[in-house]
Order: sequence, then C-alpha cells, then structure tokens
Amino acid sequence: MRIGCPKEIKPQEFRVGLTPHAAREAASHGHEVLVEAGAGAGAGFSDEDYRAAGARLVDTAEQLFAEAELIVKVKEPQPVERRRLREGQLLFTYLHLAPDPEQTRDLMASGVTAIAYETVTDGRGGLPLLAPMSEVAGRLAPQVGAWTLQKANGGRGVLLGGVPGVGPAKVVVIGGGVVGTHAARIAAGMGADVTVLDRSLPRLRALDEAFGTLFRTAYASSGTTAELVTAADLVIGAVLIPGAAAPKLVSRAQLGTMKPGAAIVDVAIDQGGCFETSRPTTHQDPIYEVDGVMHYCVANMPGAVARTSTLALGNATMPFLLALADKGWKRACEDDPHLLAGLNTHAGHLTYYAVGRALEIDVLSPQLALKM
Ligand SMILES: NC(=O)c1ccc[n+]([C@@H]2O[C@H](COP(=O)([O-])OP(=O)(O)OC[C@H]3O[C@@H](n4cnc5c(N)ncnc54)[C@H](O)[C@@H]3O)[C@@H](O)[C@H]2O)c1
Repeated sequence: MRIGCPKEIKPQEFRVGLTPHAAREAASHGHEVLVEAGAGAGAGFSDEDYRAAGARLVDTAEQLFAEAELIVKVKEPQPVERRRLREGQLLFTYLHLAPDPEQTRDLMASGVTAIAYETVTDGRGGLPLLAPMSEVAGRLAPQVGAWTLQKANGGRGVLLGGVPGVGPAKVVVIGGGVVGTHAARIAAGMGADVTVLDRSLPRLRALDEAFGTLFRTAYASSGTTAELVTAADLVIGAVLIPGAAAPKLVSRAQLGTMKPGAAIVDVAIDQGGCFETSRPTTHQDPIYEVDGVMHYCVANMPGAVARTSTLALGNATMPFLLALADKGWKRACEDDPHLLAGLNTHAGHLTYYAVGRALEIDVLSPQLALKM
C-alpha cells in the first residue's frame, strides 16, 4: 500500500503521524512510504531520517494526498486537507467528530474511509490510542505544576520535594485513571506528599495494590475533596466521565479557601475542566490567576513535549497501521473488532453511533460498511 504522512498544519501542532521507526517498519513490510518534506521537524526528525528509513520525500501536501492510498496523521484534517480526501482513500488519525459537525459533513462528502484513533478500543475496555497522550499529560502535570508554584510565576514559592528539615508540598490528584496515576507517580517521585481521589473503589484498590505507600488514596466525596483541596499546594484535575463534559468538582467559593499562591493544573480542560474557574490556555500563555490561585489549563499538554508524544503515539498506532496496510481496511477490521470500533466514516456514510447521536445524523452500522 502507498502510505502518506503529511506535515501537520493545525496551529501549534508539532507532532507527526509517522515516526522514522514506523516508516522503516512499513517499508520492510513492502509498503511504499511517502512523507511530506519537513513533516518531522517539529518532533526532531529530519527528512534524512525518513529517507534513511526507506521513505520517499514529497515536496507538497497536495502531491502527497493525491498519491497516497492511506493517510496517517495526528490531528483532524483541516478544511484545506479535507478537500483533498477522496472515496477509496483511508484516513487514520484523531478526529473527535462529536463536537465538530462541519468536519463530519466534509468527511462524509469526501467519501473517505476514516478510522479515528480515539475510538479504537482494546480488550480491557481501554482506548489504546488515547492512553499514550494521557500518560504524557499525566507525567507532565507535576512538572508544570512545580513550575507554576515558583514565585516568579505567581505561585507560593514551594518546592515539591521540600529539603531536609522542610516538609514537601501537598499534591492532590482528582481522578485516578491514566492521567491521575501517572501524575501521582511522578509527583511522589519528586518527593511530594500525594493523595489521589477517585469515585471508583475498584480503581482506588488497584492503585493501592500497585503503589503501596508511595501515595495515599481517598474516596472522592465532596467533603473529602473540599478538605484536601483547601490544604493542598498543588491540585491536579484528571477526571473523566466518558462522552460527557468534566464535572465541576471545585467551585469558585471553594477556591477562596485555598492557600494564596497555590496552583491548579486542570488536565481535564479538554473536556471543559473540573474547576469552575478553569478556561483553556495555550503553551504561549499557559497560566492565569483567580482569587490568588494560579491556574494552568493548557488543552493540548502533550504538544509541549512533541518528540516524546510522537514516539509514544507512534508505538501505539504502529500495529494498527501495519494491519491496515498489510490486509486492507476491510480484512483488518474483520479480523479485529477493536480496530473496527475506530471506523467513523465510509463511502459517504457516518459509521459511529455516538457521533450520530450527538449530531443527529443517520448511521450505517460498521458491520454493514464492511459488506459494501
Ligand atoms: N489537557 C491535555 O492535554 C490532556 C491530555 C490527555 C488527556 N486529557 C484529559 O484528561 C482527563 C483524564 O483522562 P484519563 O485518560 O486519565 O481518563 P480515565 O478514564 O483513565 O480516568 C478518569 C478517572 O476519573 C474518575 N472520576 C470520574 N468522575 C470522578 C469524580 N467525580 N471524582 C473523582 N474521580 C472521578 C474515574 O473513576 C476515572 O478513574 C480527560 O478529560 C482527558 O480528556 C487532557
């Protein structure tokens, strides 16, 4: 198959859909790999890295979209990219169609067969192509939280790990899923005094079992959450209710009970945030203050570490990419129901029920799409 990887054009997106490692692997499976010149630059991969991996460099995105049978990307196609897609072509990338009727309409009109990273599933009820970005954001959260706590950034001037004779900072992580687990682990590793709150007892048990005394767990009743937030130096928001906006767990009134200069890192901001006072910020201007509390609410945290994020995403997408290229999308999806769960559009039809419900569009069942 002819696999094409364009340069991402969404503002502030430095990741790339195909690493040189993945390009090499695909080439070794007998596929032709096309990469747009400069596509890997933001993630630290040169054109030469791709050439050495067996890829052919093409000068323009237009040429790449025209030639490739399978397009692999990171972000949803932008309007100019959507105009280049066609029936019979396969698109493999993050799409997030539910809140985006315009993109959904364009993908359907193009006839492209689109498999969305975020809806591919695994055998344990997880989302294997979302998890690596949650791991990155989770591990980054204590790092940016520590920076936000510094005096020059408006923080209370507290070092996460303390020093001999001076106690560590108190870190509270709300939500003990993928983001929360990685955040807690890194914060504890930095020497902070960490508590993880969750509403799921099985989740708290699993954390306790896996991490022992590295950090504490607590059931996220509203009273316990309020108490811990009041005493915290840093609060990390990491809750998720799948398919819904994040619940507001800390009100503006509660914010007033926090220590002056305390910090909030609201990782759940991409789902609206779990603090009443959260609003999305960017890497250029990441923090702001409300009632003396510093807020860090960057909606695309993995972009700050584009190289690590690209490599992590590449590891997760590679087996699916190879299956699609080796077998063609139909047989790959027949063989793997978890990959079929990623099918969002095909030949002018929407094929994902949750998106259909959100946008009130009729859905063709993915099983029927396989038979077309
Ligand atoms: N800002 C970014 O760049 C970025 C990057 C990756 C992920 N995210 C977001 O981070 C959030 C967490 O993602 P995840 O992968 O860890 O999800 P996850 O499903 O693995 O974990 C979410 C956890 O929240 C818990 N939870 C739900 N409601 C709760 C409540 N009321 N109180 C306490 N706990 C509650 C759940 O039990 C679950 O353990 C999501 O909103 C995700 O979109 C943001």
